[in-house]
Amino acid sequence: MAYNILTEKKDALFIITINRPDTLNALNEETVGELEDAFNRGSADPGVRVIVITGQGDKAFVAGADINELQSLPSVKAAQDKSTRGIDIFFKIEHCDKPVLMAINGYALGGGCELAMAGDIRIASDKAKFGLPEINLGVIPGYGGTQRLPRLVGKGMAKMMVFSGMIIDAQLALQIGLVEKVVPADKLLEETISLANLLARKSPVALAMAKRSINDGLEVDLRRGCAVESANFAVACSTEDRKEGTGAFLEKRKPQFKGY
Ligand code: COA
Repeated sequence: MAYNILTEKKDALFIITINRPDTLNALNEETVGELEDAFNRGSADPGVRVIVITGQGDKAFVAGADINELQSLPSVKAAQDKSTRGIDIFFKIEHCDKPVLMAINGYALGGGCELAMAGDIRIASDKAKFGLPEINLGVIPGYGGTQRLPRLVGKGMAKMMVFSGMIIDAQLALQIGLVEKVVPADKLLEETISLANLLARKSPVALAMAKRSINDGLEVDLRRGCAVESANFAVACSTEDRKEGTGAFLEKRKPQFKGY
């Protein structure tokens, strides 16, 4: 039975809660494995349209990789394996065809900030705090932080944060583009679920094609990115949902998207 990760299905939403509040939801290897299992279940479930990830309690989203495990890493190979495993799982999250919303309820440090960055949209509590403080432990981020942070906030700000290990508040995170929205702490889940439900009513194929276009397009030059968009546009146009969406507009009614 998995207790480090809790899951809940709420209509078309799948909510994953990281549940190690005694260690501020730090990611030990066991929790990383349970997170992967939970994510696999949510992404494979045809009834799930949007996945939400949050942390238990009001103090931390995830305060990083578990420093006890980091301290006792037995070898260079073990360090490489640990990093590769996390990177692979976060890639799975980033490239899942369903939208993944991060409800950041407190400290999102190190692996927690990296997990948040692997999601599609980040909503933060006004009490949340962000940072990649690995430098203070004599290491660097290992779950994609040096790669995703500059893509979100730019090279200079990423270097400032990674080199100094500084911790920033939610307002600054919003200002630099590390999160998309800041809400009062007691409204965080409500606001995130409300956005998740809004997305759950869209065509899932169109959402998947939009997500792939943005993710894949950013990795190539503009011409190729536009070609990626064209191909994904054609896929979206091949669906019944396209007929439903355009038909509903012309008939002045709300569309009921089916996902094919
Ligand atoms: N790994 C393992 N345990 C952690 C942890 C982590 N990343 N972050 C917090 N904890 C544990 C603490 O050791 C403490 O355990 P204890 O009660 O057995 O002493 C408990 O969680 C509560 O943390 P504490 O440090 O007492 O809370 P605080 O409010 O004083 O400080 C933080 C909060 C987030 C500033 C501080 O815990 C911290 O700096 N954590 C590490 C952040 C980090 O470096 N992350 C990157 C890891 S690669």
